[in-house]
Amino acid sequence: MRRKIVAGNWKMNKTPSEAVELVNMLKPLVANDDVDVVFCVPAIDIIPAIEAAKGSNISIGAENMYYEESGAYTGEISPAMLTDVGVKYVVIGHSERREYFAETDQTVNKKVLKALEHGITPIMCCGETLEQREQSVTVDFIRQQVKIGLLGVTADQAKTIVIAYEPIWAIGTGKTATTEQAQEVCGKIRECIAEIYDQATADAIRIQYGGSVNAKTAPDLFAQPDIDGGLVGGASLKADFGAIVNYNK
Ligand code: 13P
Repeated sequence: MRRKIVAGNWKMNKTPSEAVELVNMLKPLVANDDVDVVFCVPAIDIIPAIEAAKGSNISIGAENMYYEESGAYTGEISPAMLTDVGVKYVVIGHSERREYFAETDQTVNKKVLKALEHGITPIMCCGETLEQREQSVTVDFIRQQVKIGLLGVTADQAKTIVIAYEPIWAIGTGKTATTEQAQEVCGKIRECIAEIYDQATADAIRIQYGGSVNAKTAPDLFAQPDIDGGLVGGASLKADFGAIVNYNK
């Protein structure tokens, strides 16, 4: 039985002092023993958020990471910098990073491998545009993103990672994919994992849905056989996130 994982992606929101406030506000609301709860926060918020989250069930994650160990990469954050302060998760290849910061399936793959090498769980994102969905190439496109993203990843490593399926047309638009659409693609991703590795790996890997998840849509989405939780943007910055994490109560 896969354990659910619900992660907030704060994106470029909240100063360090606002981050502390938000963690303190959400701490009592996100208590749920059945779910892994992660707040992926801006790099500068990581340390204060970790401090504020102490004694709670919240793990703090990063929103990005570079794939080199150290050196002349101005502005980047290394995996060792993240592990040194207790970061356990990192979002990799979010569609916003692909669109605005030139991330590709190849850089996603390098980052996934590097995160795993450092014991950080990658939350590897994939998702199609509206145009791709209308052209009926969604599954082909997602399969390519997943296959390239996982090149060189062993079955044992793959069992530990999280894949987030986030249709781009559903992000920040208030337009959640229907439960059927989300389940269909998450099911296809699991089939793809079984093809690359084996059924045991496919059964172990956790697949989230992301894209306008809210307290109303979460229960149906998370009840789907191939949806193991969510990656939540806007609603992770509000008290609603407590209701999303407690979708089963
Ligand atoms: P929204 O929940 O705001 O649509 O964002 C989804 C997302 O991009 C999470 O990574």
